[in-house]
Amino acid sequence: MKVLIVGGGGREHAIATAVKKSPKVSKLYCAPGNAGIGQIAECVPIGVMEFDKMAEFAKEKAIDLVIVGPDDPLVGGIVDVLKAAGLKVFGPDKKAAILEGSKAFSKDLMKKYNIPSAEYETFEDPDKAIEYLKTASMPIVLKADGLALGKGVLICNTYEEACEGVKSIMMDKQFGSAGNKMVIEEFLEGREVSVLSFVDGKTIKIMSSAQDHKRAGDGDTGLNTGGMGNFSPSPFFTKEVEEFCNRNIFQATVDAMKSEGREFKGVIFFGLMLTAKGPKVLEFNARFGDPEAQVVLPRLENDIIDVFEACIDGTLDKIDLKFEDKAAVCVILASDGYPVKYEKGYPITGLENFEGKDDYFCFHSGTALKDDKVVTNGGRVLGVTAKAATLKEARAKAYEAVEWVDFDNKYMRHDIGRAIDEA
Ligand code: AMP
Ligand code: GLY
Repeated sequence: MKVLIVGGGGREHAIATAVKKSPKVSKLYCAPGNAGIGQIAECVPIGVMEFDKMAEFAKEKAIDLVIVGPDDPLVGGIVDVLKAAGLKVFGPDKKAAILEGSKAFSKDLMKKYNIPSAEYETFEDPDKAIEYLKTASMPIVLKADGLALGKGVLICNTYEEACEGVKSIMMDKQFGSAGNKMVIEEFLEGREVSVLSFVDGKTIKIMSSAQDHKRAGDGDTGLNTGGMGNFSPSPFFTKEVEEFCNRNIFQATVDAMKSEGREFKGVIFFGLMLTAKGPKVLEFNARFGDPEAQVVLPRLENDIIDVFEACIDGTLDKIDLKFEDKAAVCVILASDGYPVKYEKGYPITGLENFEGKDDYFCFHSGTALKDDKVVTNGGRVLGVTAKAATLKEARAKAYEAVEWVDFDNKYMRHDIGRAIDEA
């Protein structure tokens, strides 16, 4: 069959690598892709928000399955446009992707269906938000309602800081129209765990858990980023936690979406905080996480095409989802200055060192080809993943492999997987 992946980051490279393993796939396209994806798929210069062009291309090539990676096109309704053109698509439609697209929606959904989450209020008027802050306890969390590249969350320690935050989100529109509305919520303390799942509208199957490192600097300092590295599974996602989530969060979310007439098919990513009062949902994403996909998918034992098709057809209950009994660690190699300001266009050397090494992966996030050479082309440049029997071994291998590649302004965190030592 012919498959088209929409997107061009590390997540899509990890998806493409999994898809490529399926004996069912005869031809793989990726739009727009990147230099790494280009080694295993044909990259097509169509942007992820060019829905009509994407549909036209997929029809012309008689694509059998389209897989949508990123949040923006999902929330914008790419699945609806592709489906209307008669294509088979993996990913939630616009009505369901609102689970990620609006924090106010997801908070109201959790409240209505008793899914554990932080206490909150929603505001459309900055003056009312500021009034509310006067009596709120600190720290407090401000969230722009819409998509903001994973950066629309501000944790404020004082009333003054929180007022500044409201001003920058709602009045200065730091995150654009994502800040037309905002959620102010209770600050939760605990350990964070990400859980990815496949969903077919009614059945949910959990993948392996992971822990992300969102801050730019060592020791969780600096600005929030899309993710600087992660590990999987999380030793803190114990059987007990999993059972609690199975009872109170996972199936409840799928059922809630169905009851609302927003049947969800695709990947739900649960961002959880393990608090003293039990696990609570920090956020939902309507897609694979990036870099979560880079530590979870390399261990998937099923043919990923079977899983995607079962989600679309509503037959996920028939799939026995299996992951290798191994751990994985991914360290992101970024351009120095990310997430604020960074340079691009530097040649990357040493990529060939990953060839033929089973337990090592070098996923491309922001790369491009320039005069036939692979160059840096984004804030996050590469995701170096290693698999091993234990988390500690996987971490040692990942930090060994980050030295195999080089480029000017190469930047990474040195403490990915630090929490492993506390487990
Ligand atoms: P989100 O995009 O909602 O996942 O938020 C980004 C990050 O902000 C999360 O990964 C947490 O580290 C932090 N965060 C979000 N909500 C809260 C909360 N209610 N309490 C504490 N930290 C939070
Ligand atoms: N790594 C977090 C995300 O993909 O949203």
